[in-house]
Amino acid sequence: MLRHGARCALSRSRAALNARLVASAAAEAAEAGAEQRDQQQAQQPLDLQPLPADQLARNAALVERLRGQLILAPLTRGNHLPFRRLCADFGAEVMLSEMAFARQLAKGNRKELAILRRAENEQCYGVQIATNVIDEGVWAGEMAAEAGADFLDLNVGCPIYEATRRGLGAALLRKPKKLAKLVNGMASRLPLPLTVKVRLGESASKINVDEVTALLEQAGAAAVTIHGRTMEQRYKKPADWGLIDQVAAARAVPVIGNGDILTHYEARRRLQGHGCLAAMVGRGALIAPWLFHEHREGRELAPTASERVGIYRRLVSHMKEHFRDDDRGKRAAFYFLPWHFNFFSRYRPLPEAVYGAASLQHPLLSTRWESVACAELGETVEGLPLLERLLRCENEAAFGPIADALWEAGSDGEAEAALLRLAGEQLEGWEAELRAGADDRRGQRDDRQDQG
Ligand SMILES: Cc1cc2nc3c(=O)[nH]c(=O)nc-3n(C[C@H](O)[C@H](O)[C@H](O)COP(=O)(O)O)c2cc1C
Repeated sequence: MLRHGARCALSRSRAALNARLVASAAAEAAEAGAEQRDQQQAQQPLDLQPLPADQLARNAALVERLRGQLILAPLTRGNHLPFRRLCADFGAEVMLSEMAFARQLAKGNRKELAILRRAENEQCYGVQIATNVIDEGVWAGEMAAEAGADFLDLNVGCPIYEATRRGLGAALLRKPKKLAKLVNGMASRLPLPLTVKVRLGESASKINVDEVTALLEQAGAAAVTIHGRTMEQRYKKPADWGLIDQVAAARAVPVIGNGDILTHYEARRRLQGHGCLAAMVGRGALIAPWLFHEHREGRELAPTASERVGIYRRLVSHMKEHFRDDDRGKRAAFYFLPWHFNFFSRYRPLPEAVYGAASLQHPLLSTRWESVACAELGETVEGLPLLERLLRCENEAAFGPIADALWEAGSDGEAEAALLRLAGEQLEGWEAELRAGADDRRGQRDDRQDQG
């Protein structure tokens, strides 16, 4: 639940909605002439305002909180409150929300407003928004601050057509000066620090991350997250950490590096001596939310299949608290819970001693291993315990029944027994379907989900 103060503040925000709606309609209308204005702006010298002293102080304080952290990336559909709460249970200290459209926040869209809610155990929470209008960004930031967010993050990486056709997300990379003006306009009026998440560029032939980061530095971004791929590459190429590090070394604005971190030793490598302030993890955390604990401890937790059932049931319990433990709550939760097995099913224990070198040779996360069993670990499919095999089953048809067994069980033991029954009845069929299916299904799935 929102804290009382935040609730009151949000209702005050809603009272201001009418005024915002009028202005929002004006912003929509103004977009019609935006193209012409952009062309004129691109010719003009940049006129950026220095940030007020209190915003500079907030930026500096945020940078200290982010230093050396493994940050949970913004993940649409993944980073709902119960999942973030689970990551915080495992020691995640800095987390981003799902992406919210600033205009929808300003219009009071309930689904969008829900994104602002912060879990009780979140230590440092950033709300990510998509916008290309200063006023909308500032309203969204004010609402996020009132709901308890510690910082605002601007999405400049979302590759999906739905966003880019409206000039949002990665489309902003096409007009770096316009982006700098947007960030400067927002950062100088916001009551909380503004970070920006970018990609390397639009395509391999249009890489402009260095120019963009330099402009964001002048514009007053508190930090810049670089996802080391272009908008066009989606998940088909490994993240270019060489370029991330190069930009981090060249710029004064702190850089957060992002891309293809799956294990605690990759997080450590990325953080050690490469000039990044912090590292950000997306799919690695969706696959293994306990990664934050491993990062802190510097060693694998390697939970067994039974222990993972307990962890997934902890997520179920957070969902029951959040959505309610009744039919309606289950329907709401089941938009998310089966979906999580797209990622949970990819977990393999990858101890550094066995996989450390292989991870360097094969950095692209989505194609690291193809089989249910992990050859590097000396595993065979037949040698795996049935529960382990079921939890690793990547057939989407399995996700609903697995989620159902976890939700309906009264205890971890009951859940395990139900899952073993399920495996006995269905697993061979699901595995056979998978063997007959297309390769690189993970890359394709990631592309479908990716918003940044
Ligand atoms: C399911 C999913 C949802 C995502 N949603 C967002 C989003 O809302 N905003 C954003 O900036 N990036 C989003 N991304 C991109 C991630 O934040 C991250 O930049 C990307 O996955 C690379 O990091 P990784 O290799 O650690 O996964 C999403 C990625 C995935 C897989």
